[in-house]
Amino acid sequence: MKIKAFAPGKVILFGEHSVVHKKPAIAVAINRGVEVEVTSRDDDIVRIDVPLVNYSESSELTDKKLFFELDSQNKMITDYIYEVINLFEFDNGFNLTVDIKMYLGAGLGSSAAVTVSCIKALSLLAGIKLNKDQIARQARDIEIKIQGAASPIDTSMSTYGGIIYIDEKSQLNRIDFDMDLPLIVSNCEISGNTGKLVESVRQKYVKYPEIVGNIFNAMQLIARNAKEALETGNSELIGELMNLNQGLLDSIGVNTVELSDMVYLSRKYGAKGSKLTGSGGGGCIIAYCPENIDYIYDHLSQKYATFKCEQSDEGVNATIIEK
Ligand code: MEV
Repeated sequence: MKIKAFAPGKVILFGEHSVVHKKPAIAVAINRGVEVEVTSRDDDIVRIDVPLVNYSESSELTDKKLFFELDSQNKMITDYIYEVINLFEFDNGFNLTVDIKMYLGAGLGSSAAVTVSCIKALSLLAGIKLNKDQIARQARDIEIKIQGAASPIDTSMSTYGGIIYIDEKSQLNRIDFDMDLPLIVSNCEISGNTGKLVESVRQKYVKYPEIVGNIFNAMQLIARNAKEALETGNSELIGELMNLNQGLLDSIGVNTVELSDMVYLSRKYGAKGSKLTGSGGGGCIIAYCPENIDYIYDHLSQKYATFKCEQSDEGVNATIIEK
C-alpha cells in the first residue's frame, strides 16, 4: 500500500499579539505545507526520513507497535512523527517520508502540518478512517503533549484549511470569501522567541495600559474590517489594513530591522500590503501581491528565503496511490 498526504501550513494575516489579549485575528491556511508518503513493507521495519533536517532512522515493530527512543538532536520535529505513529497499530512495517516544504520554526505552523499529515496518512495505513474533527483533536493533543500548551489555531488550519476568524471569545469561524489571496512569504532566518515576545508585549501593556490598550483596540478594528474586506473581495482595503497592522506591531516592539527591510522591499516592488506574521522578533513577513507577484518575488528572493503561495481551501487530504 502506498499513500500520499498533504497538510497546509498557515500564516496569520491579522491580529497576532492582540489575539493573546482577547482581540480577533485572521489566519489563512496556505498551499505550502508538509507532504507525506508512506509505503508498506513486507517486514516489520519502520523507516523514517525527514530530508529537511537530514533525519533517517529505521526501527522495528514489536507487537504491532513502535517503541522508540527520541532523537535529541532533531527532537523537535521528529517527536511529533513518533507520537503520531504511537497512536496506531500496524500489521507490517513501512517507509515514511515527511517532506517539509516550508520553513521550520518560523511561525508557519510546521509542527501542526507534520502532525496532521502524518495522522492522515498513517491512520489510512492502519485501516482506520478518521474524520477531520478527530484528526484536529488528536493533532492538538499531540501538540499539547510535546509543547505543554498549544492554541488550536495551527492544528485547525492544517486540518480544515481556509481562512478563519478567531473572535473575541477565541471561537474559530470560517470566513466565506471568493477571491484569490496571492501571498509571498519571506523568511529572515532569525528565530523569534514567541514566549518572550508575548511577555514583552504584556509588560508594555502593564506599563502603558491606556496606550497599549488602545493599540489593541485599533488592531481589533483592523481585524474586523479585514473580515469584511475579505468577504466583499476588497483587495485595496486588505493591503491598507495589513500596512496599518504592521505599524501597530512595530509600536509594541515586535518588529525588527530585517522584518522591516522585507516589508519595505515588498512594498517598493509593488505589494499591496505587507507585514510581519506570527510573533515577530524574526521569522517571516507576508506580502499581499494581487499584481506583479513574480516581479516582487524575484526581488525578495535575491536577498531572503522566499516562496509564493495562496490560500488552501481544502485542508488535509490524502490519495491512495497503490492498494
Ligand atoms: C504567534 O504565532 C502568534 C501570537 O499571537 C501568539 C499566540 O497567539 O499564541 C504572537
